[in-house]
Amino acid sequence: MLNTRRPRRNRKSEAIRAMVEETRVTTDDLIFPLFLVDGTNKKIEVASMPGIYRLSTDLMLKEIEECLKLGIRSFDVFPAVEDQYKDKVASKSYDSNFFYLKALREIKKQFPEACIMTDVAMDPYSSDGHDGYVKDGKILNDETLEILGKMALAQAETGIDILGPSDMMDGRVGYLRNLLDKNGFAEVSIMSYTAKYASGFYNPFRDALDSAPKFGDKKTYQMNPANRTEALIEAELDTEEGADFLMVKPALAYLDIIRLLKDNSALPVTAYNVSGEYSMVKAAALKGWLDGDRVMKETLLSIKRAGADIILTYFAKEFAQTLK
Ligand code: PBG
Repeated sequence: MLNTRRPRRNRKSEAIRAMVEETRVTTDDLIFPLFLVDGTNKKIEVASMPGIYRLSTDLMLKEIEECLKLGIRSFDVFPAVEDQYKDKVASKSYDSNFFYLKALREIKKQFPEACIMTDVAMDPYSSDGHDGYVKDGKILNDETLEILGKMALAQAETGIDILGPSDMMDGRVGYLRNLLDKNGFAEVSIMSYTAKYASGFYNPFRDALDSAPKFGDKKTYQMNPANRTEALIEAELDTEEGADFLMVKPALAYLDIIRLLKDNSALPVTAYNVSGEYSMVKAAALKGWLDGDRVMKETLLSIKRAGADIILTYFAKEFAQTLK
């Protein structure tokens, strides 16, 4: 005798399927990471990220304008810095005449309605290619905080909306919050890279910024991929220290961590669908092994279903285009 309950009834037509759909990804959920280079009229594809470019300010303004029309309103801007401008203390990160800070001012001037996020970490500007200050082969925590503080204030001064400390130094959220408040930037938000793992999925990003570590790895500051409960310690500290958003990074191999933070925090949880996750889908789609559009949508859906409120993703624009 067949059971009278037949789940297939709720799948029998497009209208019913849509009615019972539990999770939806919208352009409001997405933040689009962008790579900025110095100069004008530059558009250089990142070899390991087909469809993603390093853009000079003029072309980035156009890109943002196009995205706004598609409903993407939030952007995370990363600078690709030439080697000659890198040093031990990331001094270009707080030089207000440096192209990154000038571009941020220009972006906010032209698009005050756009939500602009910046990255707070030393690696793009560091001759050591590390997120923190290096001495005798070690990453020094508290010395790094001072540099991050200068960087954060310089970014806040450009009028950006959200700071994204991605460095994983201890105490940085509280340090930055305090400094921002003291300097009249109480309105600038902090999206903390809360559970950022020492991951193999970041390589294409390091190609894009030319920011790979010159020695060693990032295991003394980024988390061990084997650890779960440690993410709760990071979340607790970020919350106490005043973060406005928590983040899990990468996303796909860490869906359980996204759910863990969502269930244990009242703060919005962001997931970073990182460069390597993008590249894997693109590479397989270019070979004709996967349907790229379909897998993109399924990927974003899985991250949202896991509990992410917000997704940082290189697919943002493409996803928005498929909705039109
Ligand atoms: C560096 C930073 C990284 C990413 C964002 N900020 C790389 C790293 O920690 O080495 C990675 C993003 C991606 O892979 O898409 N502070």
